[in-house]
Amino acid sequence: MLVFFSTRFLFFSIIFPLLVSIILYQLDSFDPAHLPAESLVSSTTSTPPLLNDKFLTGAEFIGVGLLDNPEDIAYNKDTGLIYTGCVDGWVKRVSIHHDSANDSVVEDWVNTGGRPLGIAFGIHGEVIVADAYKGLLSISDDGKKTELLTDEAEGVRFKLTDAVVVADNGVLYFTDASYKYNISQYAFDLLEGKPHGRLLSFDTITRVTRVLLRDLYFANGVSISPDQTHLVFCETVMRRCSKYYISEDRVEVFIQGLPGYPDNIRYDGDGHYWIAMITGETTSWKLGTKYPLLRKLVAMATKYGFELMFMKNAGIMQVDLNGNPIALYNDHPFSHITSGVKIGNHLYCGSLLHSYITRLDLLKYPAQKKL
Ligand SMILES: *[C@@H]1O[C@H](CO)[C@@H](O)[C@H](O)[C@H]1NC(C)=O
Ligand SMILES: *[C@@H]1O[C@H](CO)[C@@H](O)[C@H](O)[C@H]1NC(C)=O
Repeated sequence: MLVFFSTRFLFFSIIFPLLVSIILYQLDSFDPAHLPAESLVSSTTSTPPLLNDKFLTGAEFIGVGLLDNPEDIAYNKDTGLIYTGCVDGWVKRVSIHHDSANDSVVEDWVNTGGRPLGIAFGIHGEVIVADAYKGLLSISDDGKKTELLTDEAEGVRFKLTDAVVVADNGVLYFTDASYKYNISQYAFDLLEGKPHGRLLSFDTITRVTRVLLRDLYFANGVSISPDQTHLVFCETVMRRCSKYYISEDRVEVFIQGLPGYPDNIRYDGDGHYWIAMITGETTSWKLGTKYPLLRKLVAMATKYGFELMFMKNAGIMQVDLNGNPIALYNDHPFSHITSGVKIGNHLYCGSLLHSYITRLDLLKYPAQKKL
């Protein structure tokens, strides 16, 4: 029975769309590139000593049905509120309840009219939003005023403003994942394998937008070191995060060969970064990395409505300040996890798929030494 179903499944979900794609192949101008050799770094290089691969067993769900694809999470210690951006344009506020996830209360706060992704607090209490469609926004703390800070640099408009972090001196550091594809088309940017991403800064006093790095492979999450000397940013396609030394204008690998495709990275105020991986490394993604032709076929199938970019084994990796892996929290059926933020003893996770925030009690369900 199982064999029967999986053969059918294989035919309708993979072989048939691939055949259609091959027939149409000549007609399409989509032109994926070979990825740099570093993208092939084996995932075994960054395996942490501690693992909890049954994340969903202990998971609790917050705001079920009220939070539509809450991508990033920012926590305001003073008010106890979580801010998160949803696919319907709403920045929502969630009052979390430490003992009972079900008692959390969700409030529609401000609608940006775009797609809020990255969220952080400015030094004067304003809420900074990396809005995929609009650019970098600042929302006053009372929610009454939304201001566009910047939406282009060096004459190139942002197309997928993705993540933002605020330095202690008030400077905003943020990413534009792609100047070519918007968020509804992000899969094509991953498949094309060309560097359309940039790391940028915005000075709130001079109002100058600067390009710090260009030609990044889907520039995604960004965080700042506690000593404020460097940023750590993720390139999803490359399965790596790099350091950018702010005053030296220098780049260095932070962690590479991740066991999945990194999205947001967050510092927990306590010596660790948490890197969310939207999917684990899978055979099909591995093959795709190697073979542009395969990515072209997947892109064609995607255009005709077939979802071939299967995601599984998503999770969050805890690393120390030097990029050494410490623990991984994941689960086989888990996918589209975009952020991991540690609040108290809980890890709160955002997502590009679910209609809730997922959380895990790290004391009750710790990662443990692998046998
Ligand atoms: C929370 O709500 C879910 C769904 O309504 C329910 O299945 C679960 O038992 C509730 N948990 C608690 C602790 O009340
Ligand atoms: C995103 O890009 C697609 C393809 O170029 C376009 O059809 C769509 O209108 C864009 N979405 C928005 C909201 O700009």
